[in-house]
Amino acid sequence: MTRREVFSRIARRYDRVNRILSLGRDDDWRRSAIAHLPDGSVVDLGAGTGAANADLGDREIIAIDPEPQMLSLNDATRRIVGRGEALPLGDGSVDGVFSAYVFRNLDSVAATLDEIWRVLRPGGVAAVVDLGRPESRWKRVLHRIGSAVVLPIVGLFAGGFSEYRYLHRSLDSLPQPFELYADTPLRVERIWRMGPFGFVYGVVLTKE
Ligand SMILES: C[S@@+](CC[C@H](N)C(=O)[O-])C[C@H]1O[C@@H](n2cnc3c(N)ncnc32)[C@H](O)[C@@H]1O
Repeated sequence: MTRREVFSRIARRYDRVNRILSLGRDDDWRRSAIAHLPDGSVVDLGAGTGAANADLGDREIIAIDPEPQMLSLNDATRRIVGRGEALPLGDGSVDGVFSAYVFRNLDSVAATLDEIWRVLRPGGVAAVVDLGRPESRWKRVLHRIGSAVVLPIVGLFAGGFSEYRYLHRSLDSLPQPFELYADTPLRVERIWRMGPFGFVYGVVLTKE
């Protein structure tokens, strides 16, 4: 097996983890955020293997991801190795920014939001979707118990025990979205909830 084949297996497992964690709804949740994006040029931040490419339609996609090997499996025409915290793009150079299932993995959400603000043109839109925990306390407790029990079991069968344990922990890594996006140069237009108990959120942000 070649290196590329080995990596593409790992990448497929990564995508599968996402699909299982989202109970097969990851595409729908992506689309609900993409619906808010303008036409023109759109950064897919943390684009991975390009799961959003088809749904981004005719927009000019700029796929950015720190993992060159993930990007090598992405069929977007513009692919750039880079991180949200230091976007390799000029000021005011894009119409939109999209990011799905990435914010939990960022080193700094604040630095990434500053960067998104910098690269968006005035009037530009960012749409983010990610997994987290439900908003109400008792649902959060139930969800935490559920993911603590279910995810390691799924991991055992899917052959990715450590990834699933990491995922369980990553769901608690960030505060609730109304808090997370409060202190940013971007304006919060809308936050909505999806999935069982509302453990998934979408947020639309604009640059004035
Ligand atoms: C769960 S995958 C999501 C991939 C894709 N967005 C999707 O919807 O399937 C998370 C992606 O975030 C990328 N990532 C991790 N840290 C990042 C960072 N600091 N900036 C941008 N992307 C990052 C990873 O390399 C990975 O491709």
